Amino acid sequence: MALLLSSFFFFCSCFLFNGSLAQIKIPAKFDGFAYKDVDLKMEKSIMVEAFFDPLCPDSRDAWHPLKQALDHYSQVYLTVHPFPLPYHNNAFAACQLLHIANKMNASSTYPLLDLFFKFQDNYYNGPTYNMSKSSIINNMANLAVTTIGKDKLPEVLSAFKDDDINTATRISFKYGCSRGVTGTPFFFVNGFALQDSGATLNYTDWRNIIDPLVEKQ
Ligand SMILES: *[C@@H]1O[C@H](CO)[C@@H](O)[C@H](O)[C@H]1NC(C)=O
Ligand SMILES: *[C@@H]1O[C@H](CO)[C@@H](O)[C@H](O)[C@H]1NC(C)=O
Ligand SMILES: *[C@@H]1O[C@H](CO)[C@@H](O)[C@H](O)[C@H]1NC(C)=O
Repeated sequence: MALLLSSFFFFCSCFLFNGSLAQIKIPAKFDGFAYKDVDLKMEKSIMVEAFFDPLCPDSRDAWHPLKQALDHYSQVYLTVHPFPLPYHNNAFAACQLLHIANKMNASSTYPLLDLFFKFQDNYYNGPTYNMSKSSIINNMANLAVTTIGKDKLPEVLSAFKDDDINTATRISFKYGCSRGVTGTPFFFVNGFALQDSGATLNYTDWRNIIDPLVEKQ
């Protein structure tokens, strides 16, 4: 709710200071984290987009079978968009950390996502109910530096105050909203929403979705 309100005020303040600004500024690059550095040839590639909340158990359960499926195909390209659900109190901070990792050491982005999935129950609403925001962030940052780089804690903590990181995290959220994402996991294949989005798809499900597309190519 706080997130929605702050987005609302962010939007409102833009509106007040720039009456003609009716929409979100277009970001300089496509949102999300590319899973593998592939030579993307649009006409030959199958594009999967996954919206994941790093603190969502269904996103966690969906990740392994999707990775397995990706390993099976050479032409499937994945982008993960972090999508912090507003009712997961610490999700925005977790998504900020993914953006921080991506900016400071891009190859630590997916290892950090794995770590969040592994330890996410430490950051659920219940177990963090009595913790201050700063101690939650501190705890998450200490987890993150195990993949970003051991000596990076001061930089990671100060990145929480970085406007560019904050904006990038908002853009991920707004991008999901603009695509009609209402929960996680949520998948698009070649730009089209999967009907089962929200459900945890297993390896067989992914094969059944992608095999016919590969055959048609
Ligand atoms: C939070 O603190 C209160 C007061 O100390 C305690 O009664 C409650 O059990 C704590 N809740 C959690 C989830 O730790
Ligand atoms: C960047 O992250 C990778 C993956 O966690 C790690 O192996 C590497 O040591 C990190 N690079 C630096 C400079 O810390
Ligand atoms: C995968 O999920 C489908 C339902 O979506 C189910 O019918 C099938 O048995 C599952 N396969 C495995 C191997 O778990």
